[in-house]
Amino acid sequence: GKSGYDHYMLKEIHEQPTALRQGLSGRLDELSGRVTVEELDDVGTPETVHFVACGTSYHAALYGVELFREAGIPAQAFIASEYATGPAPVPENGLVIGVTQSGETADTLAALREAAGRGAETLALTNVVGSTVARECDHVMYIRSGPEIGVAASKTFSSQLTSLNLLVESLAGGATGDSRELVSALRDLPGDIQQVLDETTAEAVVDEYLGDDAFFFIGRGQNFPVALEGALKFKEITYEHAEGFAAGELKHGPLALVTARTPVFAVVTGNDERARKTIGNVKEVEARDAPVVAVTDGQSDVERYADHVLSIPETHPRTAPMLANVQLQLVSYHMADRLGRSIDKPRNLAKSVTVE
Ligand code: F6R
Repeated sequence: GKSGYDHYMLKEIHEQPTALRQGLSGRLDELSGRVTVEELDDVGTPETVHFVACGTSYHAALYGVELFREAGIPAQAFIASEYATGPAPVPENGLVIGVTQSGETADTLAALREAAGRGAETLALTNVVGSTVARECDHVMYIRSGPEIGVAASKTFSSQLTSLNLLVESLAGGATGDSRELVSALRDLPGDIQQVLDETTAEAVVDEYLGDDAFFFIGRGQNFPVALEGALKFKEITYEHAEGFAAGELKHGPLALVTARTPVFAVVTGNDERARKTIGNVKEVEARDAPVVAVTDGQSDVERYADHVLSIPETHPRTAPMLANVQLQLVSYHMADRLGRSIDKPRNLAKSVTVE
């Protein structure tokens, strides 16, 4: 049942600390800073990686691309339905990774079959044991999120991002100082998410913007997939117009849409060059009178330019986007709830999309 929650989605949002602990269990060694994923023991370090995925899982793939690139391995993410019709050539020793929560998405299966037909090695990252993708791929890693009933993906996205860190460390990482820091950030992640859940003010923030025209989400670097996911979740369950943008793209067109009736959710974590540039983009929307909600760990001065702040604890650059995502899940959930939407079974969306 829903264990006292109004919706499965809210229950599953709150299950994230547990889901992530399950996914991390037995896979982290804090002393050495090493990650071991038993299922990947027989997978070598790939020379290049292609991800294929749809929807939320595609956003996870975009996050995965950057992890591989940081590890020195060229990687690209493809929308599975595009890849299936004209796949990019996979070089020798290339690995094609299908990211699919359900393991049954027709577009993703078709892309993987296409890749396998051209001789690529394939790996499935999925939640469902015995799913079609798990049976068809050369290798499979499970994200161990537990069953997700809400049609809109929530905890499985967090589990995908966590698992991608484990996957990349396991295939391409080393026992370096950096790895030790990541391992300890991953260990702290369930507790950090719990803190976000306990202290969020998302419900009150949403009330300020009921009835507005459209909702925009911006981020840079690893916060770009989070912005895309924030907007996808928002449109799926609120039925309101929402768009996610790379923060730097706003000035190349979308600013035309920005008004006093289009709140902009800006994800700004850390205080590096990326954060500073995104703050520049925040000022651009502010100059057009748009309300700004900053989702931030407080390291930069973005709060000075924001009407509201959704705070997350300070953590590692890899885990900060996951905490920001939890705030955005709650934003979508509470807006949909205020609008009386059918949150667990939104219109025109199926839990697994089995047609191409
Ligand atoms: C988002 C959502 C869809 C799925 C997409 C892929 O909330 O539910 O966008 O993410 O259909 O599904 P899987 O991961 O099962 O391949």
